[in-house]
Amino acid sequence: MKYIPEPFKIKTVEPIRMTTKEDREKAIKEAGYNTFLLKSVDVFIDLLTDSGTSAMSDAQWAAMQMGDEAYAGSKNFYDLEETVQNVYGYKYFVPTHQGRAAEHIMSKLLIKSGDFVPGNMYFTTTRLHQEMAGGTFVDVIVDEAHDPSNPHPFKGNVDMNKMQKLVDEVGADKIPYVSYETCVNMAGGQPISIANLKELRVFCDKYNIKIMLDNTRTIENAYFIQKREKGYANKSIKEIVKEICSYTDGCTCSAKKDGLVNIGGFLAMNDEDFYVDAKAQVVIFEGLHTYGGMSGRDMAALAQGIRESVENDDYIKYRVEQTNYLGELLTDAGVPHVVPHGGHAIFLDARRFLPHIDQEQFPAQALAAAIYVETGVRAMERGNVSAGRDPETGENRKPKLELVRLTIPRRVYTQSHMDYAAEGMINLYNNRDHIKGLKFVFEPKVLRFFQARFESL
Ligand code: F0G
Repeated sequence: MKYIPEPFKIKTVEPIRMTTKEDREKAIKEAGYNTFLLKSVDVFIDLLTDSGTSAMSDAQWAAMQMGDEAYAGSKNFYDLEETVQNVYGYKYFVPTHQGRAAEHIMSKLLIKSGDFVPGNMYFTTTRLHQEMAGGTFVDVIVDEAHDPSNPHPFKGNVDMNKMQKLVDEVGADKIPYVSYETCVNMAGGQPISIANLKELRVFCDKYNIKIMLDNTRTIENAYFIQKREKGYANKSIKEIVKEICSYTDGCTCSAKKDGLVNIGGFLAMNDEDFYVDAKAQVVIFEGLHTYGGMSGRDMAALAQGIRESVENDDYIKYRVEQTNYLGELLTDAGVPHVVPHGGHAIFLDARRFLPHIDQEQFPAQALAAAIYVETGVRAMERGNVSAGRDPETGENRKPKLELVRLTIPRRVYTQSHMDYAAEGMINLYNNRDHIKGLKFVFEPKVLRFFQARFESL
């Protein structure tokens, strides 16, 4: 079957508006060629992100009515705590309003100035919090991850030789933890394998280094393990998720993805001292440790969302295979993109799509803007703009991957939306020569991709 039918039916609809190409040309100019600065009413199909954009179920909306908005000790907190413990298996739970808040607290507590934090590729906010805590991020992902056409089934894996090299160079006492992400976002949503995680666990035990999971897309990663890793075909998603977490010491999580909610996040861990310290930090930056920046109803929706996402394997199969469907349409038409297809998004390869644009003229940024004008689909740059400047040299980091992310919100769009989006991009690919590069007219100092403005060259 080419398309897995949606395992739900639609009960509430939100109308969306078609715009003309002229409208969109005006809108993208006003937005400084940055899709983050477009108004959502000007977007037809919004593939900017899968973060906080999920459609909630009837059971989640019902749960929201049961929000206990007590300042302290809300019943929804205890329900969420128990759900996180059950599904992910960690002992202790600290709520935050979203993922980066958890990253902030973890980085402050675990990293000392001069430390090194190896990770399976960087994520924008994660690396920034590591740097702000005095650490230096070191990329230890397998080389295959940096090659958009390499078919390796687990391009999220850590390269153990790179880990050994780092330990030999800086010493294990300068490495507080490995930042280990499931379904590595910046690599194209590429999964890790259990075999890799087990090997890393043995290595880290030898050197007394923690493994901290970026748990944002572990449920999607579990689907790839079930599908691709030997010995896991008959294990449930729920069992695989728990097994992944069992090899790690704790996690940060942006619950706005796998958790099927519009806001939320958490930290979880097995170490009691770390828990006590994290609770102390959460009251400074987020709110009391029994809400951490979420309202009672937010926590209620999240607890229900986590339970739903692992309750049977149908939902996650549909979710990841919908992404794959969009990828297959682009494959059939020869539009260059990252393979294998990731869990949450298809990543167009802007280097091959626009070989006539130099990386210093931001081909992925230019492509995202052109896709919007051509189709009304909003995508996101994940290339030279997102990577930012090297703090030492001040030069653009010029990452190997120069990508445009078409990110699929969960349970929101249908097969025909995917068909429409693919058709528009195929047309654009066949008329790509007219697309021009960009130059900065405003460049923010940190996380510049969110608010930067450009002019067409
Ligand atoms: N880690 C990963 C892997 C993420 O993808 C994100 C967010 C975060 C941490 C930060 O969490 O946004 O809740 O503060 N990713 C979004 C995206 C923004 O569009 O990929 P947050």
